[in-house]
Amino acid sequence: MNNYGIDIWGDDNFIIDNDVVRLNYASKPSLIDIVKSIRKDGNTGPLILRFPHITQKQIDKLYLTFNDAIKEYKYNSNFYAVFPLKVNQLPNFILPTLKSSKDLNYGLEAGSKAELLQAMALNNLNAPITVNGFKDKEMITLGFIAKHQGHNITLIIEGLNELQTIIEVKSELNLPSPNIGLRLRLHSSGSGTWAKSGGINSKFGLSATEILDAFDMVKQNNLIGNLKMIHFHIGSSMSTISPLKKALKESGHIYVELKKMGAKYLDSINIGGGLAIEYSQMQKQNQYSLKEFASDVIFTLKEIALKNKVDEPNVFTESGRFISAQNSVLITPTLELYSSEYNKTSLRIKENNPPIIQEMYDLLNDITKENAKEFMHDSLEHLESILTLFGLGYVDLNDRSNAEVLTHLIIKKAINLIDVKNDKELKQLDDKIQEKYLLNFSIFQSLPDFWGIGQEFPIMPITHLDKKATRSANIWDITCDSDGEIPFDSSKPLYLHDVDLEKEDYFLGFFLVGAYQDILGMKHNLFSSPSQVNIVFEDGIMKKESFIKSQSIIDIFEDLDYNADYILDKLLNKTKDEKLKKILVNYINDNSYLKTINI
Ligand SMILES: Cc1ncc(COP(=O)(O)O)c(C=O)c1O
Repeated sequence: MNNYGIDIWGDDNFIIDNDVVRLNYASKPSLIDIVKSIRKDGNTGPLILRFPHITQKQIDKLYLTFNDAIKEYKYNSNFYAVFPLKVNQLPNFILPTLKSSKDLNYGLEAGSKAELLQAMALNNLNAPITVNGFKDKEMITLGFIAKHQGHNITLIIEGLNELQTIIEVKSELNLPSPNIGLRLRLHSSGSGTWAKSGGINSKFGLSATEILDAFDMVKQNNLIGNLKMIHFHIGSSMSTISPLKKALKESGHIYVELKKMGAKYLDSINIGGGLAIEYSQMQKQNQYSLKEFASDVIFTLKEIALKNKVDEPNVFTESGRFISAQNSVLITPTLELYSSEYNKTSLRIKENNPPIIQEMYDLLNDITKENAKEFMHDSLEHLESILTLFGLGYVDLNDRSNAEVLTHLIIKKAINLIDVKNDKELKQLDDKIQEKYLLNFSIFQSLPDFWGIGQEFPIMPITHLDKKATRSANIWDITCDSDGEIPFDSSKPLYLHDVDLEKEDYFLGFFLVGAYQDILGMKHNLFSSPSQVNIVFEDGIMKKESFIKSQSIIDIFEDLDYNADYILDKLLNKTKDEKLKKILVNYINDNSYLKTINI
């Protein structure tokens, strides 16, 4: 039976038990039971399930692995970590994450003014805050206020102008400066889709010359005591470890040089994010483990420090994807199956048919293994002719439909007679004959990285797993956009079940959607984010917590800066019928996903 690669991407968080997917934790509830219990309250659209214990597992793993490496290599400094807010700022993710990792001193990374304010409001007080991204005077002033409030904050400068602004704000406010970090523009870049975040042409960081200039400015302005960190980020989702090794050597030597130049208080290297997780359902793509990642960091920095007789730096990470991706699962109900499979009953043969139709009928009856390709080509040519004749008004819709059905049946028969795998043309045709699964969700809202950059996410049904899935599947969302589709890809084929939706429900799970998707998602066609709930366990007992209902249509109008009352007035003024008014009010106060029958 197909296990949809769960042993490759699942990281033991989920298991298949007979016919359903279960959470591999505590009482091992099935996802379908959780979904049913939420749908029975009328929430029939897509649903995001978050599992805070999975986030906690990732955080614990990160600290444990780095601290083990520190012990193994007798490293004389410490490991720190922050969560980059841009990866997921939502309260249902951030609040439980910060609460449960308080003892580890887990902090936050901010990349904008809004994120910095969020970090200042929510971060555990002694836990670190790092600040990346382009900063104006207001953002730097916020950094000073955070320091004044007692936060352990480091402003990581992206350019010399930011350092200049720090100097200005310091003298204007006459307050102690936050820690200063220098973002390095390394020669080494990462690997994978986001490799351009690093490298000599990257958007961010200081060149070698600028680092020297920055250090001069720090010295001249009595900020030596504040220069604490150097930082690099060579790109998200690194699939191989070698770019990191190069970056560590390069940054390690910059650290040494700065120390030798007199950066006495510089004591930390922040290695950014980039730690990958496995998304593939087919075969492992990641070429390294967390253990290898941590060992390489600690070992390389130890060696450089030892050789150059400087103190070993503290290590900071800003891993986002690794911490958050696995904690969320998007569950979508199937609304409809659109089959492109015709059978003979779809034919509407008339008493008098155009001769081409009769010929096609004969092709279908006489096709054999030997003539299959020839007959298939003939049928495609006949279909072309019928379509041309239809455009000229010489055949009717009935004839056109018959030609389409017959061509389909002839191709299907040819595919059955010939070994498709060895025939490029037939394979391409076969790939086009998919079952279309219409799902109650928006790809733009829930899987923006699939739409934007073709990011793969594990997809599988959460029930029916005791039955063979035989239908090669195309996934359609409910947006009016042809990009709202996950087409069948024969290099990583998705097979789903042949279900009768009149009699049974069929839910698909999209896994590993906890990083970036929630916040990048957009309201194309005015679909809001799905309803969401945290699944937590207390003494082994499962509880649903922090349910947030999908945003209502009226709230979406407000988000678009419409005056909601004006819209409502306009709608209601156009009818005097109280019953219809009530319907309008109900609908606009609900969400825009399609309503399905409850189970
Ligand atoms: C500066 C910085 N730190 C951390 C991250 C998080 O990276 P990841 O999600 O790959 O861990 C990013 C993401 O692009 C980043 O730009």
